[in-house]
Amino acid sequence: MSKNVPHGGVLIERLQPRSGDSLHDLPEKVVMVDKWTLSDLDCLAIGAFSPLTGFMGEADYRAVVSSMRLSDGTVWPLPVTLAVDSSKYGEVQPGDRLLLRGEDGEDYGILHVESRYIPDKRIEALQVFRTTDEAHPGVKKLYEKPDLYLGGPVEVWQRPKAEQFGDYYLTPAQTRSIFASKGWKSVVGFQTRNPVHRAHEYIQKAAMEIVDGLFLNPLMGETKSDDVPATVRMKSYLALLENYYPPNRVLLAAFPAAMRYAGPREAVFHAIVRKNYGCTHFIVGRDHAGVGDYYGTYDAQYIFSEFEPDELGIQLLFFEHSFYCRSCQGMATTKTCPHDASHHMALSGTKVRAMLRNGQTPPPEYSRPEVAKILIEGMQQQEEGNSLMR
Ligand code: ADX
Repeated sequence: MSKNVPHGGVLIERLQPRSGDSLHDLPEKVVMVDKWTLSDLDCLAIGAFSPLTGFMGEADYRAVVSSMRLSDGTVWPLPVTLAVDSSKYGEVQPGDRLLLRGEDGEDYGILHVESRYIPDKRIEALQVFRTTDEAHPGVKKLYEKPDLYLGGPVEVWQRPKAEQFGDYYLTPAQTRSIFASKGWKSVVGFQTRNPVHRAHEYIQKAAMEIVDGLFLNPLMGETKSDDVPATVRMKSYLALLENYYPPNRVLLAAFPAAMRYAGPREAVFHAIVRKNYGCTHFIVGRDHAGVGDYYGTYDAQYIFSEFEPDELGIQLLFFEHSFYCRSCQGMATTKTCPHDASHHMALSGTKVRAMLRNGQTPPPEYSRPEVAKILIEGMQQQEEGNSLMR
């Protein structure tokens, strides 16, 4: 079932050094690409989004929105689109080549326009996010985007420069070769947008008991403002790995994409992308990629039953909500612990964030002290930065 083959059969990389010709033959029309879209472009460049060759044209977009498949039937649950101002409608024609320029002024590559279309964002929101509520951060982002989508293959010349931890921005070709060199035949992928707390550690280690290696692949693209910043998280992952994981059993690498908060559909997307990085297994726990109360606790697990295992090509490992039980004196889930909730440590993310902000260390049953220390320092620096800006 999990043969370690990229989604669609081959790894599609769009990163190619800028040729001498292209220097003389630059497109005249320029499209500005925001940070969020640039992270998608980077994923397209390195093959994380195989088999996509570029931003979706109308046929693929419609098929993805309505049925979680590309127009050729390949499973793909989320739109990957380039939105531009609708006033450009008359200016851009299929057949055009557009220069993709970042907000940093860098030219990242070219879009070969094959399709231009006006999406129905309400339908996109309902299908992808299961809500049109603009309080949902993914819906808000979608509604803020301009109204014209351009689709077509991309040619990418360079990757965005990471502020920090550049060495961790590995490509799927690189991670595949590292897994092979370590002799790992089975690798479990772990997606996270948060610091790794004891519950995450517990499910990772439960999975590590049955596979050769763990691929810790935190999402480093844009997240909502109250999530812990990626660079602080990265420091906390390094401290955690150094103290609590065998070094020869874990590979840490950055996942450049932005967070959609699309819950169930994003879980399928996260699994497929980790297959491209070379994982054979993928962890989906409680409320994966969820936000607020928009999704049921296990909706992101149930959605996988809508596909045949062969069309996903990665083995899912589902975990129940895990917690520390004072009576069991260890991490557990209701599958392994007989005690009721009064024995369990219940700390909400909001409560923990408040503790960290006040310089208080959460109990070691919730978070490793090395991790908490880094989060407290990170929060304090953020506060100082904010107060300077006020
Ligand atoms: S996510 O948005 O990236 O999914 P998070 O970083 O919190 O958020 O979660 C990473 C993974 O751990 C997801 O698969 C999620 O379902 C799982 N997870 C988080 N907390 C728990 C928990 N207490 N019990 C079980 N699984 C959890």
